[in-house]
Amino acid sequence: MRYLPEPFKIKMVEPMRMTTEAQRRERIAAAHYNAFGLASDDVYIDLQTDSGTGAMSDAQWAAMLTGDESYSGGRSYYQLIESGKEIFGYEYIQPVHQGRAAEKVIFPLLVTHPGMTVVANTFFDTTRAHVGLAGGRAVDCVCPEGLDSAAYYDFKGNMDVAGLEAIIAQVGADEVAGVVMTITNNTVGGQPVSMANMKATAEVCRRHGLPLIIDAARFAENAFFIKEREAGYQDVTTEQITREFFSYADAFAMSAKKDAIVNMGGLLAVREDANLIADIKSRVIPYEGYLTYGGLSGRDLAALSVGIHEGLDYEYLRYRVGQVQYLGDRLTKEGIPFQNPPGGHAIFVDAGRLLPHIPYHQFPGQALAVELYIEAGIRSCDIGSYLLDRDPVTGAQLQAPFEFTRLAIPRRVYTQAHLDVVADALVAIAHRAGDVRGYEITWEPKVLRHFTSHLRPISA
Ligand code: F0G
Repeated sequence: MRYLPEPFKIKMVEPMRMTTEAQRRERIAAAHYNAFGLASDDVYIDLQTDSGTGAMSDAQWAAMLTGDESYSGGRSYYQLIESGKEIFGYEYIQPVHQGRAAEKVIFPLLVTHPGMTVVANTFFDTTRAHVGLAGGRAVDCVCPEGLDSAAYYDFKGNMDVAGLEAIIAQVGADEVAGVVMTITNNTVGGQPVSMANMKATAEVCRRHGLPLIIDAARFAENAFFIKEREAGYQDVTTEQITREFFSYADAFAMSAKKDAIVNMGGLLAVREDANLIADIKSRVIPYEGYLTYGGLSGRDLAALSVGIHEGLDYEYLRYRVGQVQYLGDRLTKEGIPFQNPPGGHAIFVDAGRLLPHIPYHQFPGQALAVELYIEAGIRSCDIGSYLLDRDPVTGAQLQAPFEFTRLAIPRRVYTQAHLDVVADALVAIAHRAGDVRGYEITWEPKVLRHFTSHLRPISA
């Protein structure tokens, strides 16, 4: 079966409310055309992120009641470490409050002097920001197939291994602080990385003595794609695939708010490097709290140790990735362009192709996100030039390789009927695409501007 029905039934519901178009026009203007400024009660279907927005299972809620809130040595901590070691096989696993906390702890340990380069198959925005805050230079190096939204390719998230070699040759291995493999590759469309590519990247890193770090937010969806698409893995479990994939890296940073299906949490783990483990411990205590809670409550650790197994369940993943595929198939039928094939957690609508009259510096991805809100109360976000920001040296607006509007699907939250509302809204906008206007920024902060900038539509 192509789309697997929900492998769960619904025990608790949360009401949602549709607003009128007039109300939505007023609310988005009051939010300065930045959807982060909307109250969620004014949003009908919230596809802004799949992060921390999933529905926990009854087993997770039950585990929360068993949470041990001891300051040190809590039972919930030991449960989590047991789950983590079983799945990843790493020597040291450190809970932290979310993914960016792990980034804040590890990047200053890798970037030992200003100007060092960190290469990734593509950085997520907080990861890029933490490399920069540590004094490093973040360089993206995705395979060329990842940049052509119209062409199908099984593993569009892959590292460009030849490109990585070229960067190392150009700056010198001593000036490279490390290499990051983001799974799935969020920014290019939730696209997976193959086992073969991970192996080839690890080989380059080993040869040059460079640490390889996995940004593991969507590790389970990546394992599912390897099982579905990569030769030789059809009869291998998602757990075994994960174990092998992680064996090629030295450390991982994980936002547990995605594939581990918790509302808050993260992990930072090291395979075996004793010095790195000691350095991490000394940074975690001042920033995140004592080692056995890492910025989380005991009940959060308990929910995470259950969720991390649920997120890897093959039947769940078939349903989950199938749901995103369903939305993608509807858009294909309607001729709406998006990063093809659909990603694991989201559809990345190609706003650059849907709204070709809007130049990159007027943010087509943001324009489409505003339009989706006005059309049907759907919240999404720009993954394009608006997100990419300015050149830190010249202040000029950078041009992203693509202008996407991301529709991120929370886990176990929305039904197929909700996704039909989303597809219908996009079709309606496509019919009046020529009338959609671009945007300009009227105020922006210095770092991570997309969260809080003010914008206004450019008059015709
Ligand atoms: N790495 C990746 C690949 C991510 O997608 C995210 C978060 C992080 C790191 C940071 O984790 O939010 O727990 O601090 N992505 C969310 C998103 C916010 O909407 O894609 P965090």
